[in-house]
Amino acid sequence: MEDLDPTYLQAPEHISAPNVLPNQPEEVNVIDLSRLEDPEDVQNVISEIGEACEKWGFFQVINHGVPCDTRQRVEKTAKKFFDLPMEEKVKVKRDEKNPVGYHDGEHTKSVRDLKEVFDSYFKDPMVIPSSTDLEDDSLSLLYNKWPQFPSDLREACEEYARHAEKLAFKLLELISLSLGLPKERFHDFFKEQMSFLRINHYPPCPRPDLTLAHNPHKDIVVLTILAQDEVGGLQVSRRSDGVWFPVKPVPNALVINMGNCFEIWTNDKYWSAEHRVVVNTTRERYSIPFFFFPSHDVEVKPLEEFVSPENPPRYKGYNWGKFFASRLRSMFQKLDTHTIQVDDLKVIT
Ligand code: OGA
Ligand code: NI
Repeated sequence: MEDLDPTYLQAPEHISAPNVLPNQPEEVNVIDLSRLEDPEDVQNVISEIGEACEKWGFFQVINHGVPCDTRQRVEKTAKKFFDLPMEEKVKVKRDEKNPVGYHDGEHTKSVRDLKEVFDSYFKDPMVIPSSTDLEDDSLSLLYNKWPQFPSDLREACEEYARHAEKLAFKLLELISLSLGLPKERFHDFFKEQMSFLRINHYPPCPRPDLTLAHNPHKDIVVLTILAQDEVGGLQVSRRSDGVWFPVKPVPNALVINMGNCFEIWTNDKYWSAEHRVVVNTTRERYSIPFFFFPSHDVEVKPLEEFVSPENPPRYKGYNWGKFFASRLRSMFQKLDTHTIQVDDLKVIT
């Protein structure tokens, strides 16, 4: 790969971005959810989650209830799928109308990522606005695209996603409690959730000086539940100073990160961190994020509990479905225009 396709080229300032670990490296907290079984420890777990959401926007969980063999089955079947010849994989290729299935040209902020992915909606069919036009309230149904081979990829993904979704609701409740809100405060936002499961496959790349496996971004989600294999490479930018820290692989742990919705709902109390993946020169890497999305008709705006005369709303509200639909366009091509980011929704004071 000496002649790296120019679409992968990353701006040098992103590659050489501050990547020094301070003298006493801190780490993204690993929280053992089995502690919730001890009534005396529940409040501590909730506080630790709240602290992690505020400081990092990232934490890891162990004993989370997602069975290890369910996850291994996704990894195993996904490997078989990605090993297929390209002409087989493109039979379930993503297109601009239905962005699900196989894809190898994802763009983050208009720079191509060095990876291939397979996506499936949690709800099949999924309900989405037909257009980005705010006046147009027509809806479309989108269906999953499953490959013929491996024939058990569908079952493996569906089973894993059911467990991940259950964990997502559990985390949502814990996060609500950490904010001093009733535990079901956010539930109504998910009646027609647009969540999806992704499998990322990062091939090795001998030129870490030129590109990143996944370019720096914030997830446009409520929260992400990510299973990463043992190879490593995921890094998170610390809220206080932007220094990049590794999110180290912990066996059977799941990485949890806050998305834009939480940052906006809490009017910046909780943080949605930028993260990226550096390339590995010799080993391929797999990761499986479950992106927990609200329903298409949800207006994402600072919740009244976080707004007061002293703390006015810092964001304009937006319609989730329309925002998602407009982001889809930017995933497909190197747009000349700036891709919409959460900071674009900040109210300028
Ligand atoms: C993502 C992502 C990180 C990883 O898919 O949004 O940030 O470790 N993935 O693959
Ligand atoms: Ni991400």
